[in-house]
Amino acid sequence: MLKQYQIIFIVLVLGLTSCIRSSKQPGRQYMPDMAEAVAYEAGSPNPIFKDGKTNQLAPAGSMARGKYIYPLSDSDYEKSASVITDPFTFTKDEIEGEGKNLFTVNCAICHGEKGDGQGYLVQINKFPPPPSYLSEPLLSLADGKRYHTLMYGKNMMGSYASQLNHRERWLVLSYVKSLQAASKPAAVSSEKTDSTKTK
Ligand code: HEC
Repeated sequence: MLKQYQIIFIVLVLGLTSCIRSSKQPGRQYMPDMAEAVAYEAGSPNPIFKDGKTNQLAPAGSMARGKYIYPLSDSDYEKSASVITDPFTFTKDEIEGEGKNLFTVNCAICHGEKGDGQGYLVQINKFPPPPSYLSEPLLSLADGKRYHTLMYGKNMMGSYASQLNHRERWLVLSYVKSLQAASKPAAVSSEKTDSTKTK
């Protein structure tokens, strides 16, 4: 049997030496599987794939879940009027809240807060006035054409395909409609939302 002081001595020696660590040596691995992943690291070579890389591109035709695919090409502006319709019904709160916010951030600088084409850039003579939403032809412009313009841009106006998602594009357009309705309620009788009632 070991004496008590011998046990203490052994524990001390083991305890102190097991903590000695050289920065150049990572120490012993008792269960290497846990220290080194079995899976291939993203940037490591990979014998399984033909190009020898672990990181692979998604196969052709892959589609991100929930992503909206716009079915028309740039030149289909006229066609958009009959093909593209607003799939959403936004509440007054959504339009006056998030919709207005999106408009203020992205559009008002040119189109003006009221949609009259007198945005800040126009006032300081940095941009020619865009057509007013509050008069023809924009008053009765088809929804599809509005959306198409947001997707591809039109002349001096750029595309908003990457700044706004599918829902946000329709939401901001609903706000544009509410501006139009507020200025001339009778002219927008096809109004889907009841935004005429908002202030
Ligand atoms: C850089 C200035 C600018 C910004 C920012 C801008 N627009 Fe425009 N927008 C224009 C101009 C200029 C036109 C006129 C295009 C034409 O018919 O030649 C236009 C036209 C439009 C039209 C009519 C499109 C059509 O098919 O005739 C709509 C609707 C519209 N804008 C909505 C928006 C919305 C919504 C935003 C924000 C997401 C926005 N615009 C941001 C400059 C701008």
